[in-house]
Amino acid sequence: MSVDLEKILRPVDSPMKPYEPKYMMLASGEAVVVRQVFRDEIPDLLKHVEPLLHVERDYYDVVAARVYAELLGYYQHRFQDQYVLALQVNGELAAIVNGRQVTPKLGLSLHTLALRRGLRIGAHGFAAKMQYHIDDLGHDEVLVVAESPIGFRRWMIEYKLEKRFDVPHELGGVPSWALTRELFDRVRSKLVVGRRPVPADILEKAMEKILPPSDPPTPPADPLAATRAMYDATATALVQQRWEMEKGAQDA
Ligand SMILES: CC(C)(COP(=O)(O)OP(=O)(O)OC[C@H]1O[C@@H](n2cnc3c(N)ncnc32)[C@H](O)[C@@H]1OP(=O)(O)O)[C@@H](O)C(=O)NCCC(=O)NCCS
Repeated sequence: MSVDLEKILRPVDSPMKPYEPKYMMLASGEAVVVRQVFRDEIPDLLKHVEPLLHVERDYYDVVAARVYAELLGYYQHRFQDQYVLALQVNGELAAIVNGRQVTPKLGLSLHTLALRRGLRIGAHGFAAKMQYHIDDLGHDEVLVVAESPIGFRRWMIEYKLEKRFDVPHELGGVPSWALTRELFDRVRSKLVVGRRPVPADILEKAMEKILPPSDPPTPPADPLAATRAMYDATATALVQQRWEMEKGAQDA
């Protein structure tokens, strides 16, 4: 009985061409590899996404919560036609991007999450997934939304995305934007970088193990400090909270 029910609950993924790894040089002089992460490696990503649930800055919390649910759904066969790419520097996890195929001609961008900041690693990840949709999966357009102002700048502005406001996006039902094949071809030479094949030693390092990010975004030292600061310009509540914490520490 339970085996039969699992057959109903588990979606059957459509065949999708695998992503061929590529690499590029960062402004820091390091090489970053973009490669596909399949189901069995998903737990290695989850443990690095979970701490970001508590980072309120730049909407890391809401994006991490959604990415966590999508990755877990993929791992447990509860998500239809999702792919996941990881960006790694010396094996270290630097960004995660994912998306899915809605129909053979329509793609959908789920998320871009940078675990190392300041080097446009997230932007490279987004470009790689758009390239995967348009060039490899043969999609004519990709539906996109932004949850953060940085995301809006990076995707809607830099790619000059078209409005598809009559189409609710799967992420929260908000109005969609679209990257068309034509738009992609227009920005390709400027925004899409990377080379194939990846040199064997660099690829081997990436495939061997997903290493923890060395400098991931972290929550503020005080719980909810960012939110409190919005409503408490003099930080009175924060100071009181610190005193309580210090008192608790002395009592221990
Ligand atoms: C959106 C995102 C993927 C972009 O990644 P990215 O291209 O690697 O860019 P960064 O986040 O490192 O930097 C974005 C800007 O913030 C600045 N910045 C913010 N925090 C920074 C930090 N700790 N170190 C360095 N730069 C930082 C950068 O200077 C950069 O400015 P620029 O736009 O003028 O270049 C990434 O900001 C992210 O993961 N944000 C949280 C989740 C999110 O919003 N995802 C997208 C949903 S639509």
